[in-house]
Amino acid sequence: MHIERIERLFLMAAGGILAAMVAAVLVTSAAGHASLPEPADRVDPATLRQTAPFDQPGVFHEGGNAYRVVVVASAWQFDPGEIRVPEGAEVRFIVSSTDVIHGFMIPGTQVNSMLIPGHVTDVTTTFDEPGEHRLICHEYCGLNHHQMGGQIIVEETA
Ligand code: CUA
Repeated sequence: MHIERIERLFLMAAGGILAAMVAAVLVTSAAGHASLPEPADRVDPATLRQTAPFDQPGVFHEGGNAYRVVVVASAWQFDPGEIRVPEGAEVRFIVSSTDVIHGFMIPGTQVNSMLIPGHVTDVTTTFDEPGEHRLICHEYCGLNHHQMGGQIIVEETA
């Protein structure tokens, strides 16, 4: 097969760019220790509400400024929908879904997780300032996805 010289140059340039980009992905993912998120634990979504700790969703004070918040997501709500913690609280969220994939995002924090049925999501953040944060489902989960949310109220301590 005959390939024009200029066409061959273009093919080589395209191949070179492709190789450079693949190399960049491999090098940066190795240097940054990139990995796929792994579930903290697994749980049967069908019996989630009977399985500890999800049989008792809510806010638990672990001592000091440490809080544990257990949240059950289902179409189309978070349980509990309102979470109250004091300012300075370091909150470990333990979350799972009973049905479909939901999102778990708190704007203004680094909490941005996917809730996969059968998987336990375990994410910790600190609320330094008093105020209110929205809790948003940011994965499309059906008809009322846009209404699925909650509220985190960070209370001022005296
Ligand atoms: Cu749950 Cu979108």
